[in-house]
Amino acid sequence: MSKAVSGFSKLSKSEKIDWLSATFFNNSDKIKKVLQQYWNSNEVLQNLHDDFIENTISNFYMPFAIAPNFVINGKVYAIPMVIEESSVVAAASLVAKFWSTRGGFKANVISTTKIGQVHFMYKGDKQDLQNYFSLKKKELFIATADITKNMRKRGGGILDIELRDKTGNLANYYQLHVTFETADSMGANFINSCLEAVANEFKKDTLTGSVQDIQIVMSILSNYVPECLVRAEVSCKVEDLYAENSKILTEKFVQAIQISNAEPHRAVTHNKGIMNGVDAVVLATGNDFRAVEAGAHAYASKTGTYKSLTNATIENGIFKFWIEIPLALGTVGGLTKLHPLSKLSLELLGNPSAKELMEIIAVAGLAQNFAALRALTTTGIQKGHMKMHLTNIIKQLGASKEEKVFLIDYFEHKTVTHNAVVEAYQKLVKDK
Ligand code: MEV
Repeated sequence: MSKAVSGFSKLSKSEKIDWLSATFFNNSDKIKKVLQQYWNSNEVLQNLHDDFIENTISNFYMPFAIAPNFVINGKVYAIPMVIEESSVVAAASLVAKFWSTRGGFKANVISTTKIGQVHFMYKGDKQDLQNYFSLKKKELFIATADITKNMRKRGGGILDIELRDKTGNLANYYQLHVTFETADSMGANFINSCLEAVANEFKKDTLTGSVQDIQIVMSILSNYVPECLVRAEVSCKVEDLYAENSKILTEKFVQAIQISNAEPHRAVTHNKGIMNGVDAVVLATGNDFRAVEAGAHAYASKTGTYKSLTNATIENGIFKFWIEIPLALGTVGGLTKLHPLSKLSLELLGNPSAKELMEIIAVAGLAQNFAALRALTTTGIQKGHMKMHLTNIIKQLGASKEEKVFLIDYFEHKTVTHNAVVEAYQKLVKDK
């Protein structure tokens, strides 16, 4: 039986599932049940989710959790997080509480400029191209006036359009490098629409003028946004960081960051931990985590070597720990107000501006990194992880409430491994 299909998108949801079941699961009813159990009985809500993308057959649930007690610039937040990895929310909550008694987090947005580019090829004289661009620049702005009208009212729009000669990187390659301010929206559609209008206008007069052979290759925003940057930090006296051996442990903490800055293998994992916090809030607020991920990792490589997004110092007995991360976010448009849980998340955060959300999310990343480095340089990461893992294994085994209590108690001072838990459970059931 062929597993290829044509006209799949035209089938109803049930027909799609029937086809899947027949083609990949031997007409199993099980697959239908698994998929259907996640359908929402609220038709309006289900239709909303169905329409986000094509070929929807069910909903994929992720835990939606809250990390309370975050003090940021003197304001208390309960931060919404969407993430499947156990221990991330617990760590965030612990760290929030910890820093709330040490002055809280300070955060500030450094810049909010976004970037888009019209990439084109041109084989003619460079000076002719420069002259043509200089003459045309005003018209490029005029060509986007309708698109930018509303954005300009909100304080945004196109900041500048530059002609960049990239022929040193690729023969005949130039670009119009366009900078944008998109206020509270992430601005992807706005930027791409502007760029396409700019490209059309730029190309228009080249059929008859002195610059005749411009070939537009593509017009697209860049997810590398090093000038859409936020900084978050915490600081305290070294002696206030740990209950015991604070000086030695604080030095170890700083060394852990120095290692990330010296060794990309470690830096990638270090930054992955930061993104545990960042992505969870980006997702909860209906923002594009792939864009944020791509931009953050590119920024981590800005020196040519992949490094840590966080840094720490000890100076005059004061420990300072901070993050600098590019975050292109929106609090209007996109999914932000369309998905009921994103809308709720933003309400929970007090309907922040995009700038305030940048600060909150940078803090979530810094908090995760603090939790990870503190665990790694003291007890090790597995102790906390395995506690959460233990409850997951117990759940998988189908243990009763009493069995769960017994097993958690049993593993209080023992090493948790999957096998050890299974064995302990089997023994418990056998001995009953
Ligand atoms: C696990 O998801 C994240 C950590 O590996 C981060 C780190 O090593 O810094 C714990």
